[in-house]
Amino acid sequence: MPLSTPLSRRLGLRYPIVAAPMFIISNKEMLLACAEAGILGAMPSLNARTLDKLRSDLEWLRARTDKPFAINMTIRLTDPERLMADVALCEEFEVPVWITSYGNPTPFVQRAHAKGATVFHDVINLKHAKKAESAGVDGIIGVSAGAGGHAGRLTPYALIPYLRDNLSVPVIAAGAISTGRQIAASLALGAELVYMGTRFIASAECGAQDGYKQMVCDSGPEEIVYTDKISGVHANFLRRTLPEDWTPDRTPEGAKRWKEIWSAGHGVAEITDILPIERIVDDLVREYHDAVATLT
Ligand SMILES: Cc1cc2nc3c(=O)[nH]c(=O)nc-3n(C[C@H](O)[C@H](O)[C@H](O)COP(=O)(O)O)c2cc1C
Repeated sequence: MPLSTPLSRRLGLRYPIVAAPMFIISNKEMLLACAEAGILGAMPSLNARTLDKLRSDLEWLRARTDKPFAINMTIRLTDPERLMADVALCEEFEVPVWITSYGNPTPFVQRAHAKGATVFHDVINLKHAKKAESAGVDGIIGVSAGAGGHAGRLTPYALIPYLRDNLSVPVIAAGAISTGRQIAASLALGAELVYMGTRFIASAECGAQDGYKQMVCDSGPEEIVYTDKISGVHANFLRRTLPEDWTPDRTPEGAKRWKEIWSAGHGVAEITDILPIERIVDDLVREYHDAVATLT
């Protein structure tokens, strides 16, 4: 069974895989490596500290590839003036895929569609998925329990088919997908794309510090803590970056969230090596075919 879906073909991707946007650590080098490997790379607009930097990143990328990539706009976490300026740059550079999170996607959908762009919106439940569907988004990212970053509470075994059965737009599965076997499972659950963050922290191109990448390889899923005491919203973090005496009811003092307290999801379970993105994608594709072969 080829590793391809109607949505991946519509987007012009070789494989139905997204390297999900990650605050601070996704960068233009990842977007380019993903484009060359046939998957969709995504970066939060805010990873470019200034508007000029976002412009120069987009120019850099446009000069090197005509393949699709995505920019993520974190609606309520971004200063409104900066947000609107980011949107204008996405229009100017004809960014093919816009990913909205943490807010109402309606105004972004209209502007993206006027430029022929595709919009995905991420949710952790059906209620928000339905609202985003009404706003006209082209796909819903279902963020399950165990995802890196802000994660939901529902197991993907429930969330992904639930979204699929109750929506008319394609569903994208997120949360603890790090191997080809997990991609096969996600497609079986009804997803048309998989959205993978944690696996790509441990990539050569990722902007994370070496110690962070190595910790993703060395940590087990039991060492991921789900708490709202660090960023105000429930998210998953590496236990090893929290003070030893930390308890889930306390906000750790002093440490900078995301910069010193590092996020990753249950998907650390299957990650053992820091590899170039091209090699990660080759492995995922091979593992997917091996998994499918065991089922047929
Ligand atoms: C370090 C880190 C930072 C993240 N930052 C963002 C972000 O800025 N915007 C966003 O929409 N999602 C963010 N996410 C969530 C990812 O886009 C994605 O939903 C998640 O990584 C998928 O789960 P996985 O890590 O288990 O593969 C982040 C995740 C991680 C691990």
